[in-house]
Amino acid sequence: MAADDQIARAPHHVACIMDGNGRWAAGRGRPRLFGHHAGARRVKEIVRACPDLGVRYLTIFAFSTENWKRTQSEVSGLMKLFRRYIQREARDLLAEGVRVRFIGDRVRLDEKLVRLMDELELLTSRNDKVHLTIALNYGGRDEIGRATKRLAQEIADGKLSAHEVDETTLARFLDTHVLPDPDLVIRTSGEARISNFLLWQSAYAEYEFIDTLWPDFTREEFSKVLRAYGARDRRFGAVPA
Ligand code: FPP
Repeated sequence: MAADDQIARAPHHVACIMDGNGRWAAGRGRPRLFGHHAGARRVKEIVRACPDLGVRYLTIFAFSTENWKRTQSEVSGLMKLFRRYIQREARDLLAEGVRVRFIGDRVRLDEKLVRLMDELELLTSRNDKVHLTIALNYGGRDEIGRATKRLAQEIADGKLSAHEVDETTLARFLDTHVLPDPDLVIRTSGEARISNFLLWQSAYAEYEFIDTLWPDFTREEFSKVLRAYGARDRRFGAVPA
């Protein structure tokens, strides 16, 4: 496929479940955090590849509502990595036209991290080249639960009537309310499950489950996965024309 053709058929919004950091590190006899650091370097490479490959929105699963069950040292190491990533990458993200948003419940995150997240969102809020959304303390069911609670509160306050509520109304209360739905969800590391990621938003997404571990997921492989997507026939429940 020619490069222009690939861009024309590229998914507008790609979501990634970045799995396999732990196994990648174990394969090298190193601690799990070593794999997460390598994973963070791949994040940078994949974000940078987006404009050339025609991807406008990229959403990445950095920490799930279930990831708190990991050891305290892995959780605190990951939180430190997220803080460091924001501090170190802010300038490049701004210069490269990346608008960063975070989705997930911020209540359980530490104050310093939340402050850095808010600052990065504000700093990059005028960018429009690539929209990077980082899911942090995110779970699809948790998101739908929080959205429903806010919606119910609006009904209780008389701002909304129950009979007006439909799927568009609920979607307005989701963390992702300003984002288009993902066209393609990629999961690395050979696991074929969605682990509570973008449950509502992925109703019509295409999925690619690939064997490569996230720290080995290069820009070239990303491009290959996008090419495979370009050859798919999406019907959204309709019959072929
Ligand atoms: C899953 O692999 C990965 C995570 C829970 C963390 C994802 C985090 C990164 C890629 C780090 C950088 C992110 C940002 C935004 C800077 P796993 O640990 O479950 O791997 P395993 O299944 O092999 O154990």
